[in-house]
Amino acid sequence: MTIKIGLLGLGTVGGGVIDILRAQHPAWPVQVTRAAVRHITPARQAQYSNIPLTTDAASVVADSTIDVIIEVMGDVDPTLPLLETALHTGKHVISANKDLIAQHGEELAQLALAQHVGFYYEAAVMGAIPILHTLAHTYPSDQIQRIVGIANGTSNFILTQTSFFGSRYTSALREAQAKGFAEADPTNDVSGLDAAYKLAILTRLAFGVTPTIAQIPRQGIDQKLPDAIIKPLIIAERRGPRQLMLAVGPYVIKPSNPLSGVNGANNAVLISSTNMQDMMLMGPGAGARPTASAVLADLADLVTQIRQGTVPDPYHERTRSAADWQIIA
Ligand code: HSE
Repeated sequence: MTIKIGLLGLGTVGGGVIDILRAQHPAWPVQVTRAAVRHITPARQAQYSNIPLTTDAASVVADSTIDVIIEVMGDVDPTLPLLETALHTGKHVISANKDLIAQHGEELAQLALAQHVGFYYEAAVMGAIPILHTLAHTYPSDQIQRIVGIANGTSNFILTQTSFFGSRYTSALREAQAKGFAEADPTNDVSGLDAAYKLAILTRLAFGVTPTIAQIPRQGIDQKLPDAIIKPLIIAERRGPRQLMLAVGPYVIKPSNPLSGVNGANNAVLISSTNMQDMMLMGPGAGARPTASAVLADLADLVTQIRQGTVPDPYHERTRSAADWQIIA
């Protein structure tokens, strides 16, 4: 049985998904049967000649022959109602949309569970690093104490270029855009908002509480910074039985800190927990192929679950009894 995919968005990540799938074919029992794009140009039509393109994303979601929606178009509006409709109508969803999942991930995950379909979003946080999988599926007997990481590839790339190679801020940002690390509008990258979205998702999965973006104190890298090793960090730390400290911003770190060697557009995360103690994951945090590979990892798991007839619950919270957490700065 071929699993039929509707793709929403054919930009940097969507193009990477198609490229990787083409290289895999025919090993995977999947087929992208339609793709929604913002603009159909002759060049694009030629590049994706075997995929019918449309500018009407709702028609892809409404297509009853499609089993899985892969959403890489970004934004909350109009994407949220599209994904709600997809889940309501029994389609599985794989998304890379951090803005949307940070703010609506909990309700979408609950909707997916109620509808017995999968809702996957590994690609939304730290590119190719399997951080969501790690939080959901490893060391279940451990309580997580702290997560410290580098979650925005553009910021790390800019700080690396400016501090090690003497680049100017604006040319480093342009290079990050040219390499496909930065968002189309890079404001969220350099202001720390993109990292705050990722921290909100990690906080829900690790601690069972979804902070609002306003609850996360945040500083960008678009300001004068000291001449030292600076890394654009996200931090979530248990400070008491029900107290959680959250922060996003550029921090001076010591050369002995393992995050000090994480350069370019790489991301990394140090997870500290009761029994496992400290573990670090590091890898490409942005860019077409690394992010698309996380989408494909989700798709591979979904294909297995569909074939086994099981209901996917990929990224459940480690703890769900978190109504009275106090979030502190
Ligand atoms: N613009 C993002 C970054 C892409 O630079 O990390 C990956 O989410």
